[in-house]
Amino acid sequence: MTRYSRITGTGSYLPPRRLTNAELAAELALRGVETSDEWIVERTGIRARHFAAPDVSSSDLATVAARNALEAAGVQASEIDLIIVATSTPDMVFPSVACIVQNKLGIAGCPAFDVQAVCSGFIYALTIADAMIKSGSVSRALVIGAEVFSRILDFSDRTTCVLFGDGAGAVVLEASDTPGILASDLHADGKYVGILCVPGHVMGGQVLGSPLLTMDGQAVFKLAVGMLEGTARAALTKANLTAADIDWMIPHQANLRIMQSTTRKLKMPLEKMIVTVDQHGNTSAASIPLALDVSVRSGKVKKGDTLMLEGVGGGFTWGAVLLNY
Ligand code: UT7
Repeated sequence: MTRYSRITGTGSYLPPRRLTNAELAAELALRGVETSDEWIVERTGIRARHFAAPDVSSSDLATVAARNALEAAGVQASEIDLIIVATSTPDMVFPSVACIVQNKLGIAGCPAFDVQAVCSGFIYALTIADAMIKSGSVSRALVIGAEVFSRILDFSDRTTCVLFGDGAGAVVLEASDTPGILASDLHADGKYVGILCVPGHVMGGQVLGSPLLTMDGQAVFKLAVGMLEGTARAALTKANLTAADIDWMIPHQANLRIMQSTTRKLKMPLEKMIVTVDQHGNTSAASIPLALDVSVRSGKVKKGDTLMLEGVGGGFTWGAVLLNY
């Protein structure tokens, strides 16, 4: 019998501190940085984001999201045999957030590692977990996206600091004899490293270079739309499906205009696109599992629906996972 993988539970967590655009603009004004709710909504669709308290790390957010996903799946933490965390804002240089989450969940022994593909991280992590389940090496995986991007924002740069937020999303992915994940498609092109990066690094006890996010927004915007359309089409072709078969598009939540352009390019109605960027901002690797969990819990996404998850981000990296929920 063919072995597949299927999502059996979703969970998420947002830190309680929520800042509307107006609240953020007022804080930035105190630093002499000028922005407005009107500009942010018009250019990005973002209305609010959550920021974690200073003593809260990615592993804290990830652990709550994981517990929520385990509960939804009806699975005990002790039954998990793989943990993958997608993050670009780990608690420490090493070890991985996944190992820290494993300990916080009170389990030991199963493989646990991080995937670093920035905003495409969850798509990469889900693809790896799917492959490990299909190969027979594991049966029940926790796949998590967790970020505290507020830690790496330059609050003197209005072109980036209004865009991002903190949060975590998780899924339980289990072996199944019916197909859940139908196809996936992953890409990277390292010549674009410089257009979206945190260039700093640790050396000899010091941080060398800037430890804050820097981005050429327009360059990212132009590349993102074409890459997202291409990877979605590639995943559909691999599964022998068309865009008409998709019930819900769950794109990386970075900018409403990018999401709308991609969905339109696939000739899909915008009503089939899940939008959480308005409330979460861009939570990088957490954005897709967060949007998935919100849409499952609101009753939009139902068992049996065909979902297209797709992401793009620093690296450049991009990819899509097409699945039957
Ligand atoms: O996860 C993947 C990572 N990132 C993305 O997907 C981001 C992709 N890029 C974008 O979302 C958009 O390019 C941005 C939202 C970053 C910028 O939108 P834009 O429509 O490309 O604006 P722009 O960069 O062309 O800037 C237009 C104007 C500029 O002023 P001037 O030069 O026309 O006078 C900016 O200085 O808007 C100004 N501006 C702002 N004004 C108020 C830039 N940021 C702000 C701001 N508030 N926060």
